[in-house]
Amino acid sequence: MGKGKAFIGIGMLCAVMTLCAGCGRQEKDDKVESIRIGVTVYDQYDTFVSQLMESFKVYARQKTGETGIAINIDVYNASASQSTQNAQVEEMLEDGCDVICVNLVDRTEPTTIIDMAESKNVPVVFFNRELVAEDLERWNQLYYVGAKALESGIMEGEIAAQAFKEDPSVDKNGDGIFQYVILEGEAGHQDSIVRTEYSVSTITDNGIEVEKLGYAIANWNRAQAQTKTAQMLNEYGKQIELILANNDDMALGAIDALKAAEISPEEWPVVVGIDGTDVGLESVKSGEMAGTVYNDKEGQARGMLDLAYALATDQDTSELNLEDGKYIRLPYQKILSEDVYQYLK
Ligand code: BGC
Repeated sequence: MGKGKAFIGIGMLCAVMTLCAGCGRQEKDDKVESIRIGVTVYDQYDTFVSQLMESFKVYARQKTGETGIAINIDVYNASASQSTQNAQVEEMLEDGCDVICVNLVDRTEPTTIIDMAESKNVPVVFFNRELVAEDLERWNQLYYVGAKALESGIMEGEIAAQAFKEDPSVDKNGDGIFQYVILEGEAGHQDSIVRTEYSVSTITDNGIEVEKLGYAIANWNRAQAQTKTAQMLNEYGKQIELILANNDDMALGAIDALKAAEISPEEWPVVVGIDGTDVGLESVKSGEMAGTVYNDKEGQARGMLDLAYALATDQDTSELNLEDGKYIRLPYQKILSEDVYQYLK
């Protein structure tokens, strides 16, 4: 096992077994029999990212079935350390990976990875944690797969606005103003920034006045969100009418705090999340979360796999309709309780 390789070397994922044909890029005219994709994720315990990786493996198996080309995938966990992730990429390049997929720990620090990959002429597909456009321009073999961040904030705001308009009891003190707190993901993450801003501005764009009581950074994490929500409940108690969470795990942490405080569900604020993870969908189904916004992990996984496959086999990427020749961005979808069955597995 290599340094930090903490989860699944699904090297034998391949339907077709190969001995060493998978290592190293093959000449165009050779018949490719196998490819090797190296993946490093910022944190294997992140619910959304781990579900995205599950889908990635499913599509890889399907692709092998369709093409007969073995796809070896090595997945590394960077455990929230950029230097660990850099070392993992170095190892993957030494191991002869044909393409590297990187879920950056620090989206402002891609330079070491880009330089190493360029020196070995191995393309890099960044995903979910978006580097700035200038960094993606540094070499012509850099790509990004993610989602249309703006939409998630707008849709979350629309769900909250609809709840306020449809049910007068949501406005607990009857002042016509939506008092809210917000749980934010990691500081500096493109999705935290955009979701925080647009969820709130969309509520006001829908003609509803808002008042921000408090906010907390809970780093996408359920346990941290529970702790931070418990503190805000102590401080603002029943004044809180809405909890906007930048993702489902934090919305669920807020619900854990409401339950731990023994507040009866009729008294709960409206809670809205983003992602539509399995646990998030269950919570919308049970009515605990008012709604969520689907972050299309299957679409992103398929986009990543198709792109990585095309790059590793030297195929033309033009069929993939890349935006600006570099980006794949999947749309979001709103999920209310009546929609949830379409998404539950
Ligand atoms: C997801 C979060 C996840 C984060 C990790 C976001 O797009 O909505 O759930 O924790 O990505 O980078």
